[in-house]
Amino acid sequence: MIIIFALMMTLCSPSLPLFTVVRRASLTPSQEARNMVDPTATTETILNVTDYIAEARAREERVLAQIREERALAQIREERALAQARELSLNCTALERQNFLLQRELLPAKTSTAAVLCNRFLVESGLLDRDPTLILSAAYDKFKTKLVTPSGKGLTKAGRSLLSDISWKSGMSARHRDVANGLQMLIHQLSSVIHYPKLVRRGFVCGGHPPLGIAVAMAVLTLQAEGHIGHDVVVIDGDYNPVAEMKGGVISSWPATHAR
Ligand SMILES: *[C@@H]1O[C@H](CO)[C@@H](O)[C@H](O)[C@H]1NC(C)=O
Ligand SMILES: *[C@@H]1O[C@H](CO)[C@@H](O)[C@H](O)[C@H]1NC(C)=O
Repeated sequence: MIIIFALMMTLCSPSLPLFTVVRRASLTPSQEARNMVDPTATTETILNVTDYIAEARAREERVLAQIREERALAQIREERALAQARELSLNCTALERQNFLLQRELLPAKTSTAAVLCNRFLVESGLLDRDPTLILSAAYDKFKTKLVTPSGKGLTKAGRSLLSDISWKSGMSARHRDVANGLQMLIHQLSSVIHYPKLVRRGFVCGGHPPLGIAVAMAVLTLQAEGHIGHDVVVIDGDYNPVAEMKGGVISSWPATHAR
């Protein structure tokens, strides 16, 4: 009866083995030795093979333990390095913020006697005013959707009209795609270094070589139009020549209608 049942099981589901195979790992070294050697082998041979297997297993165990230990150490080292990198990055952010606050205190006074080219400062102060609770990169990501399409490869309708206005008034030109690219990465590309160009007598200055110089002017003009940058700003080209002036979100050609 049992045999017939087993046969039926085999026929109905041929992929199921009738007997489960005993796994190698569950054998003791002496059981495994008996399986390996000739049935007529002497006890001494079996004992020798048993010893050999036991020793091989111990060696394998030692190597595995060493690998586990090294992995654990590597993980600890990696976590420590990551924590250090996080701390360093936080320290940098704190220093950058301090630097920015210092500039915000000093630059307005400085602009009464010198021209101050500070692309990053202008964008940063506008963004901080626009979204005081966000970190800079998050505030910029939110802001740039006004000018750059979600793919990051093109300009929005507002962005295109702003670009043509700035190009028309400043005489600087660049391809839409290059300006979009400049705007996409703007916050990472703008140096926090401040220059004091001699070609304009005084005041806040932004710009530089297109397309990046135009991208900066677009961001500053937009922030100015939204009321987040109170200063008037002169736009310069890549050769430090003044090419336009931005006032209250409106750009006019240089020389501006009023004398400086
Ligand atoms: C068993 O091992 C011993 C020592 O390693 C060796 O002298 C002996 O010849 C071995 N015997 C067999 C049957 O392999
Ligand atoms: C971060 O700054 C603190 C105190 O200002 C300092 O003790 C620490 O070493 C700095 N960390 C790194 C990774 O530079």
